[in-house]
Formats: sequence, C-alpha cells, structure tokens
Amino acid sequence: MELVPLTSPEEVARVAADIVEELVLRRPDAVLGLATGSTPLPTYRALIRRHEQGSGPAWDGVRTFNLDEYVGLPAGHEQSYLATIRRELTDPLGIDPARVHGPDPSQAGLPTAGERYEAEIAAAGGVDLQVLGIGTNGHLAFNEQGSSLGSPTRIKTLTAQTRSDNARFFGSFEAVPLHVLTQGIGTILRARHLVLIATGAAKADAVAAAVEGPVSASCPASVLQLHPHATVLVDAAAASGLERLDYYAEVYAAKPSWQRH
Ligand code: GLP
Repeated sequence: MELVPLTSPEEVARVAADIVEELVLRRPDAVLGLATGSTPLPTYRALIRRHEQGSGPAWDGVRTFNLDEYVGLPAGHEQSYLATIRRELTDPLGIDPARVHGPDPSQAGLPTAGERYEAEIAAAGGVDLQVLGIGTNGHLAFNEQGSSLGSPTRIKTLTAQTRSDNARFFGSFEAVPLHVLTQGIGTILRARHLVLIATGAAKADAVAAAVEGPVSASCPASVLQLHPHATVLVDAAAASGLERLDYYAEVYAAKPSWQRH
C-alpha cells in the first residue's frame, strides 16, 4: 500500500485526478469503478474542469461501474447513486449513459441483482481502477463493519451511523433508505488498482484503523492491506491519526520519478 500524505482536499483532488487521467490516457477503454459520497466530488470536478479546458483525455471509450446503490428510492431520484454519478461526473465528461453502470435496485430484480452486477463487471473485463472513499466507521462502499472479507455484490442493511452520516443528502435520518446494494469486499479486491481518498478530521480514526490497524471485518477498509496495488491519498486532517506519518512522508519525498502511483 502506498500512503500519500498531502496537505489539502484540493491537492488530494489534483493527485487523484492525475491518477485517473494517466490511466485513461494509457488505456482509452479503461473500466473505472466509481465511488459517490462527498469526498470524490472535488476530484470529479477537477476532471470535468480539465475536460472543459481541453486538456483531459478522450472519455468516450471508458466504461464505469458504481460501487453501490440505495434500494427503495423512486426511479430517477436525485440521490440515487446512478443519477448522482451521471450528474457529478459522467454526463459532464460526455460518457454515454449506456456505458455507466450501477447495481439494479428495482424491487423485482433484487434477488438476482448482486449476481447480475458481478457478471456485468466480469464481462467488461474487471475494474482497472477503483476510486474509494471511507466511512467514518471504516466502511468501504456500503460494506458495514462485520461484512465478510470475501463478499460479492449483495444487499446490505445500513447502520444508524451511516444513515446519520448520509442524512445531509436526504434532509432527514428517516428519509435515508435502510437497504442498499453494494459491491462486496471480495468484488472490490478484484479491481486492479484501488485508490482510496480521505479528507477531513472526521476520517482520521477510520484512516488510521484501515492503514495501521489489523486486517479485520471490524474495519472493512483495512482490506486494502491485502491488495497488491492500493494507493491511499489523504489530506493533513485525515492523516492526523497515523502513527507512521513521518515515514510515509519520507517515502513519498524519495519516490523515484519513474514510479507511478
Ligand atoms: C457513503 C458511500 C461510500 C462513501 C462513504 C463516505 O455512504 N456509500 O462509498 O465512501 O459513505 O462518504 P463521504 O465521502 O460523503 O464521507
């Protein structure tokens, strides 16, 4: 795992956008795994800004797979993660909506939604780069504490903590759906490169547990320690709980110029 200690959310967004663009330049038909939530928004805005300025790569060959989706929202609800990712990233980049995927939360399809999503990801050749955020309790996508470390895409029940964290998007705690579909931890681990971004002091404990704590279902994000190519981008506030921060900074400063993230 590479821990990249950065200063501000803007710098995290710049480096994350660089990593995504570098892949799409190298592989115009890249398969991107996308996180929602507020943390990746500055990264997505940086990508859109560069695209509008004409300095970004061509996006029309890219396919995207969302990490997760709420269950029980009316079709087209503005907080559905598919609607969110189209609004916040893929529509402004001009990616055809047919290339933008998410788990199917329709009531009738629920029993097979996980299996079908796994098959779609596999048919696309797997995810090249998975953007990840982290919950304040260490959750990854919507894999709450206690999730099986080998889990596939499936239905999950949100904790009160996560519903309360996400109430700001819905206006109230009660309006946040109780059920979700989420890529499993096993699904996420199959992506070829994981890029976790965390900003702000509220994420400091979760980042410390994920990076320096034991690998455990009690902190789903700790599975990044098992992945052969994981990059963690943090601002100073999110890094403030890390014991080995000085060492990570030394390693990053001494990074060979030929070595990519
Ligand atoms: C949400 C999402 C996750 C996200 C996390 C943190 O509930 N399902 O994919 O990484 O919680 O969200 P935020 O970035 O808004 O803090």
